[in-house]
Amino acid sequence: MCGIVGYVGMRASQDVLMGGLKRLEYRGYDSAGVAILSTDGGLLAHKRAGKLSVLADDLDSRPLSSGTTGIAHTRWATHGAPTDANAHPHLADGGKLALIHNGIIENFQELKAELVAGGEEFLSETDSEVAALMLAREFRTHSNLTTAMQAVVGKLEGAFTLLAVHTDAPGVVVGARRNSPLVVGLGDGENFLGSDVAAFVAYTQKALALGQDQIVTITPESVSVITFEGDPVTPAEFTIDWDASAAEKGGWSSFMAKEISEEPEAVANTLRGRLGADGVVTLPELDVLFAGDATISRIIFIACGTAAYAAMLGAYAIEKWSGIPVSVELSHEFRYRDPAVGAGTLVVSVSQSGETMDTLMAVRYAAEKGAKTLSICNTQGATIPRESDAALYTFAGPEVAVASTKAFLSQVVASYLLGMYLGQRNGVLGESESKKLADDFDALPAQLEEMVETGPRIKELAGWMADTRSVLYLGRHVGYPVALEGALKLKELAYIHAEGFAAGELKHGPIALIEPGQIVFVIVPSPRDPSSLHSKVVSNIQEIRARGARVIAIAEKGDAAVLPFADEVIQIPLASSFMEPLLAVVPLHIFGMELAGAKGLDIDQPRNLAKSVTVE
Ligand code: M6R
Repeated sequence: MCGIVGYVGMRASQDVLMGGLKRLEYRGYDSAGVAILSTDGGLLAHKRAGKLSVLADDLDSRPLSSGTTGIAHTRWATHGAPTDANAHPHLADGGKLALIHNGIIENFQELKAELVAGGEEFLSETDSEVAALMLAREFRTHSNLTTAMQAVVGKLEGAFTLLAVHTDAPGVVVGARRNSPLVVGLGDGENFLGSDVAAFVAYTQKALALGQDQIVTITPESVSVITFEGDPVTPAEFTIDWDASAAEKGGWSSFMAKEISEEPEAVANTLRGRLGADGVVTLPELDVLFAGDATISRIIFIACGTAAYAAMLGAYAIEKWSGIPVSVELSHEFRYRDPAVGAGTLVVSVSQSGETMDTLMAVRYAAEKGAKTLSICNTQGATIPRESDAALYTFAGPEVAVASTKAFLSQVVASYLLGMYLGQRNGVLGESESKKLADDFDALPAQLEEMVETGPRIKELAGWMADTRSVLYLGRHVGYPVALEGALKLKELAYIHAEGFAAGELKHGPIALIEPGQIVFVIVPSPRDPSSLHSKVVSNIQEIRARGARVIAIAEKGDAAVLPFADEVIQIPLASSFMEPLLAVVPLHIFGMELAGAKGLDIDQPRNLAKSVTVE
């Protein structure tokens, strides 16, 4: 949470910094600020509560300076309300030093008490300001911003990325990171820092990811990295595989609308080069998990939110195709319950951002216990894949809207590929079943296009439901994670009470919620499925209809059994059972977006949320 940008070079830094903040605004959007070392040797800063546009409007009418060194921040408040005073940067040393922070400094109360006792005055309620005041003190002692930063980080506990500039260190930006992301953009005569590569991809596609507990110093001509102990480090360089246009709205009304339209492509890109027409899955990136004849006897998925629902689908598929027992846990529950993991356990994290703090901590916990770790991730250079034994990247492209859509589909596909790979490796998944799955995957992108085209119809439905106060979602087997995902989208986007239930649970409690007019989405399994799930779910529909529910069924084309009982039917193309959830979820993504739109809400930046949850 919080987006940070640093720049040093030959361009007007205000433009670079504001452009970077615009691309990082999804990380936090309750206030923003910028600080620039001006050409006349001073430091100019401006910060405002509210969305980035408030700051941008101010700077349009009163630009800061033509200085070419600066830092900027977009905030998601943790300590202190979103006010002008609590916005970053925080200034110290009589306005000569500016600092921005992402994370939580856990020992800030005691540090603050020491600083106050030493005569320092605080202007904000944030934990971050302690770092600014401490850095100013250390700079007075060391006269070197990097050494001063090293002295400060040694005293901080918790999670932090810090960036700082000082008028007595012109042409220098210093950054430090622990448990919070920071990447370096490598330019020609200029260098960049950012919470993620979106901050600077408009200028360079060459980047370095900083490791845990490292400090970076950038000047126009140099990038030097040391550990918190002062030892030099050479981080590996990587190339960003998308360009700035991929992170633009490109004529769409919202990033979410654009990203839903990209769901078919996200699936196709995640499959590309990994699945042959014969069904054989090639994933050389996983070889490392089997080094020295290692075996996997158990898999635990860890993830949060939408990523956890993708993991549930992955778990069903992997266990079926490979015979390996698989469970799914929320990352924040996993590590606090003392789970029995160790050699033979593969812990698979699923994270779009690769920076979710709860998931990162769970990965570290699993590694400490001796488990192998695999990251399913959409973001190159992110901390979770870098700290995992292996990484299976999804190729959904940058996802900017806070509500996850195309990343969800790509996570499911990557998990399915993992299941096929493991099943083929241990001989449980046979040739004909593999080939059948390859055919299913082959058809999927075009079928998803069909689902994206349901948009106008779903918009109409959302239009007449704008005043609704509660929506329920029912699904069974692979329809259950879809129900959970549909409900989460509605909560986070339209601020409507929504719950997803396993349809089999209905009579164990949730049916008591049904009263006349209650809207219920039901994800109906295919009637072609050999199990009896279809008829069971149709019975559920009858039960809730009898109690006055308004049923919107998502059902296979030609499923005549649902028609008499549903108020609306959204049809999905004929697909195998593991492909159905990928198709059924698309109208639910659209519904969440359109209901938020019908209520006049901000679709891309829902209240109280941020895209990357980098604090616990
Ligand atoms: O970056 P991650 O995939 O780790 O994020 C996990 C969740 O925070 C995320 O999926 C969240 O639930 C979305 N806002 C849901 O749309």
